[in-house]
Amino acid sequence: MGLVLGIESSCDETAAALVDEGRRIVAQRIASQDEAHRPFGGVVPEIAARAHSERLTPLIAATLDDGGVSLRDIDAIAATAGPGLIGGVMVGLVTAKALALAADKPLIAINHLEGHALSPRLSDPKLQFPYLLLLVSGGHCQILRIDGVGRYTRLATTIDDALGEAFDKTAKILGLGFPGGPAVERIAAAGDASNVPLPRPLLGSAEPHFSFAGLKSAVLRARDSEKYDPADIAASFQQAAIDCVVDRSRRALQSSDTPTALVVAGGVAANKAVRAALENLAAEFGLPFVAPPLALCTDNAAMIAWAGQERLAMPRFASDPLDIAARPRWPLDPSAAPVRGAGVKA
Ligand code: KG4
Ligand code: ZN
Repeated sequence: MGLVLGIESSCDETAAALVDEGRRIVAQRIASQDEAHRPFGGVVPEIAARAHSERLTPLIAATLDDGGVSLRDIDAIAATAGPGLIGGVMVGLVTAKALALAADKPLIAINHLEGHALSPRLSDPKLQFPYLLLLVSGGHCQILRIDGVGRYTRLATTIDDALGEAFDKTAKILGLGFPGGPAVERIAAAGDASNVPLPRPLLGSAEPHFSFAGLKSAVLRARDSEKYDPADIAASFQQAAIDCVVDRSRRALQSSDTPTALVVAGGVAANKAVRAALENLAAEFGLPFVAPPLALCTDNAAMIAWAGQERLAMPRFASDPLDIAARPRWPLDPSAAPVRGAGVKA
């Protein structure tokens, strides 16, 4: 049945999953660390690494148990090897190496972003290459052309904040707590998006990139003015962000060869208003719109196991060496030119 064990530990979710070659998620477990980080209003790398090291091994054992299999039944072990918070990545990768060595199984080191990028193919068997991908998470905001496994061309990135980061900072400014994205979406639903005038950075710009720092500063000023209801600020922020995302995606669709689909992935893809706006944009171009189910948008190990399956299925598959290094930074398209100010956060 071709089973891959996936391991994810690059941020604040400790996760393990078993995915078979027929795209079935046989078992998966996720231990969120939200409670541990909440008092600090953000992810504390040292706390995250310690939590991963305490939780990961029992979590893998429980996942194997859920699937009714043992390590002997696994065909390969796939683990996130970067980019991300290096302490957590090391815990996951070292664990995967030890299991691969002990059970004599191939090790597959997965780029976390590749996990997000291929996740829509786990949930949608019909999705073919090439597709245009909007990858929007806490640390990344990119538009990529996905031509095949390992064939990724970056068309756009952010020159300052990632979209998820903008949601998280808005949540912090409005005192909505952590994690921020879902909280902003929740109160935005009760707000009026036309009440607070906010900028749309780079809207209509000839360059392909994103920028959200100016929007975040405007949210801060709106709050400090004490003129607006927080729900209206959240709704107006979300609409401004969506306008930017749609504009930049439209530009990418206009300037690239016709893809098979418009696809969104990463944590912010869990936002229903973002999904709805992109679905309309895809319809404008007569393209199918594909977004993974919400649980596959935010960090999880099923997408890592699936990326492992995609690698295993390649004609010249080679497992990764046991001395492969964990990478805090690891661009999906290493040939993409650096962009002014583009801080790819750990
Ligand atoms: O992919 P992910 O789980 O982790 C990273 O690789 O960064 O993405 C997390 C990001 C966070 O910034 C979080 O606030 C955002 O995704 N997010 C959302 C929603 N759910 C998660 N942003 C907006 N609306 C949501 N419903
Ligand atoms: Zn992620």
